[in-house]
Amino acid sequence: MNLVFLGPPGVGKGTQAVQVARALGLAHVATGDILRAAIRAGTKTGLEAKTHMDAGKLVPDDVVNRLVRERLAEKDTENGVVFDGYPRTRAQARALDLALAAAERKVTGVFDFQASDEIVVNRISGRRTCGKCQSAYHVSFAPSKKGEQCEKCGGALVQRSDDLPETVLQRLEVYRKDTAGVSDYYRKSGNYAAIDANRPIDVIAADLLTRIKKQS
Ligand code: AP5
Repeated sequence: MNLVFLGPPGVGKGTQAVQVARALGLAHVATGDILRAAIRAGTKTGLEAKTHMDAGKLVPDDVVNRLVRERLAEKDTENGVVFDGYPRTRAQARALDLALAAAERKVTGVFDFQASDEIVVNRISGRRTCGKCQSAYHVSFAPSKKGEQCEKCGGALVQRSDDLPETVLQRLEVYRKDTAGVSDYYRKSGNYAAIDANRPIDVIAADLLTRIKKQS
């Protein structure tokens, strides 16, 4: 099972990808998380990615495709993957098809999360992320029971540097220009579903699991 979660920044892809991957025993491959880990590690790739991410722009396809190929070589991806925030361009969608085909696998389900700009801006502005384990919270919709600390590891909760209002507007613009076309790439495939992401977290999670089980 190889699932792709598409949608604008802040729509809730990551929140659902973590839950679905855990429930189905799949690997969670989030290119944003991989890039932020490279930034924290101070690698050359991380330094290059940071300039694009802080400007709300996409990291070049060749960099992201290479990181995903490297991640797919890891053993835990053999049982299947939830791809979160990847692919984001048609070139990335083609590269993913090729990378999976090399292992005689393919994309088996595509879930396109949809919500209004107002909702995604509200979700992003209230998001807080653990500086240590990267778990995500929301000040109103998914608060930590430990206040400003992570429930899981006690790390301090911080706001992502690309979650500042002006960067968020740029990310939404880039989504409309570059990423919305990826939906068309998959729409004809027969395993594409639009997901109403305006609903509460638990309702969306239950809907997704029902749809995935029907598909398999
Ligand atoms: P990335 O980290 O992928 O960010 P994104 O796609 O912009 O998505 P977000 O992480 O902001 O949001 P999400 O949809 O996962 O929402 P979440 O579940 O956290 O990418 C960051 C940057 O890296 C990009 O801008 C780009 O520069 C680069 N990059 C990454 N991948 C790339 C690629 N493939 N190609 C090129 N560049 C790439 O939820 C948001 C908040 O809402 C949370 O606080 C959560 O608690 C809350 N929430 C979630 N669901 C609900 C709900 N149903 N109701 C109420 N609150 C909710």
